[in-house]
Amino acid sequence: MGSPSTDLVFFITGASRGLGLGMVTGLMAQGVTTVIAAARRPDTSEALQELVDQFPERVVTVAMDTSSEASVKARCPAGEYFGHRQHSSLLARNC
Ligand SMILES: NC(=O)c1ccc[n+]([C@@H]2O[C@H](COP(=O)([O-])OP(=O)(O)OC[C@H]3O[C@@H](n4cnc5c(N)ncnc54)[C@H](OP(=O)(O)O)[C@@H]3O)[C@@H](O)[C@H]2O)c1
Repeated sequence: MGSPSTDLVFFITGASRGLGLGMVTGLMAQGVTTVIAAARRPDTSEALQELVDQFPERVVTVAMDTSSEASVKARCPAGEYFGHRQHSSLLARNC
């Protein structure tokens, strides 16, 4: 990963393990301000929870099934995670 703008809000799907978890870890290491980490069951990932514990102001988890339009609409209304922030956003669809 290059050097991301630390002001961007990153929304990473598939963030509970594998490549997505690696992205969240890397973005934290690079000083990114806000990462929204989505998976169907983010609460089952010990590694993701450790990141939340370490960076409680910077990592937000979202339980969301990207194969379900209803789930995405319910969990990802633009205003909930992005609208209130004065930052640009970047979505990494990883599952
Ligand atoms: N690893 C590789 O070498 C490689 C190579 C080429 C392409 N890819 C592709 O890259 C992506 C990630 O690979 P990976 O190896 O990191 O996979 P992985 O270790 O199996 O992780 C998949 C992640 O996606 C989440 N997920 C799965 N289905 C989901 C859904 N319907 N809605 C929301 N989250 C969902 C899983 O969490 P939950 O189960 O909690 O939802 C998990 O966090 C995949 O699309 C894979 O095909 C991987």
